[in-house]
Amino acid sequence: MTKHFLEEDQELAHLELSPGTPGGSRTVNLPVLQGTLGPSVLDIRKLYGETTCFTYDPGYTSTASCESKITFIDGEKGVLLHRGYPIEELADNSTFLEVAYLLMEGELPTKEKFDQFSDNITFHTMVHEQLRNFYSGFRRDAHPMAIMVGVVGALSAFYHDSLDIHDPEQRMIASHRLIAKMPTIAAMAYKYSVGQPFMYPGNDLKYAENLLHMMFATPAGPYKINPIVARALDKILILHADHEQNASTSTVRLAGSSGANPFACIAAGIACLWGPAHGGANEAVLHMLKKIGHKDRIPEFIKRAKDKDDPFRLMGFGHRVYKHYDPRASVLRITCQELLEELGYKHEPLLELAKELEKIALEDPYFVEKKLYPNVDFYSGIILQAIGVPTSMFTVLFAVARTVGWIAQWMEMIEDPLQKIGRPRQLYTGDTLRHYIPFTQRGA
Ligand code: CMC
Repeated sequence: MTKHFLEEDQELAHLELSPGTPGGSRTVNLPVLQGTLGPSVLDIRKLYGETTCFTYDPGYTSTASCESKITFIDGEKGVLLHRGYPIEELADNSTFLEVAYLLMEGELPTKEKFDQFSDNITFHTMVHEQLRNFYSGFRRDAHPMAIMVGVVGALSAFYHDSLDIHDPEQRMIASHRLIAKMPTIAAMAYKYSVGQPFMYPGNDLKYAENLLHMMFATPAGPYKINPIVARALDKILILHADHEQNASTSTVRLAGSSGANPFACIAAGIACLWGPAHGGANEAVLHMLKKIGHKDRIPEFIKRAKDKDDPFRLMGFGHRVYKHYDPRASVLRITCQELLEELGYKHEPLLELAKELEKIALEDPYFVEKKLYPNVDFYSGIILQAIGVPTSMFTVLFAVARTVGWIAQWMEMIEDPLQKIGRPRQLYTGDTLRHYIPFTQRGA
């Protein structure tokens, strides 16, 4: 068995507690843990027992919530590694399904193992026929993310034979089902919104091709998949597959820590991803670019983004971890340019506008000082629009890709011998003890 790094002997950090802390001034020794990459971590698990103090870290800006071997980010240098492999190499040379295998299994597959994995995923692409009925319960104008949250959660009611999280075989089947069915469920959400018949998956197609087929083919005639478009979509899926302990991944881990089944956990992740500060940003970028409309109006929007009294933010800019250009955005910037050229767009106004906006923002002292750079969502929307994906489906496709990361992280958590239910504490600032007063004795 691999030795758990948290069990190894660690050096100690000395924390001086001031006289004002409970128990008075003293020094507490805390183990310092060192991963293979990245900053050291203070192990505060015994802090409360020794000091009766909690730590306070809203937004987890200084907190490592778990040990993980899946993804590493160096936000200062703009580095993103999956199982040690740079995202740029994976985006250029790999495929989404191979990256899925890598994230889940820890190694790149041999040809045989990859074929086996591909077959397993392909075998699970259809959804239970009765699941179709769920869609008709939604309004036609429902946001497809609302449908995703509902339908993915509902998978728990259909696949009872893969709900036992303590059985590795069942965990694996549930994982394959989720990766396989997400494109089907996503495409059905789209078809429902446009009033077209659902398309069954084509199991002779590759992952991204199948997604395009289920979204854009109709039973009325043949649909020819453009390989340039399929490759661009596959690249987008690779770039969104995992991203360390982000909000939705942490949501999946927290939901899973209680022993909830994987379908319910992924539904929780989808709900979190929907927010505009997270996966919803790609949709928001397109809305923003359309609202700006012309490069002459960029200064007006930059001014608004800098105004503390205006809630407007430059969408697709800034990141909790990256204080440098997001490496996924670098890949997508080039992909976007290449794709538009290959598709014959000489001048795509939104791309021109986005590049101009990026240029102006990156020269502005506000963005420079706060280290706000384009993130993955800045260019992905322009690519998705160019390949015909409606704006409301942008975050859905992010969810399809991120399912792989959520699953890999969920599996790692379940298999972690130190795994416990996630249960943060708080800094309580409400009323102190008081006693109930009947209506008749309460003031106005
Ligand atoms: N436009 C203008 N100002 C910004 C922006 C922005 N996009 N992002 C951050 N700031 C400012 C913010 O006002 C704050 O200023 P101050 O220190 O004066 O109060 C400072 O920069 C730090 O921002 P923060 O909100 O404390 O940083 P955070 O790490 O909590 O937030 C973020 C990160 C991604 C939520 C934020 O940058 C943001 O809202 N960006 C726009 C939404 C977006 O593009 N989200 C996609 C993120 S990448 C994909 C994903 O994870 O799903």
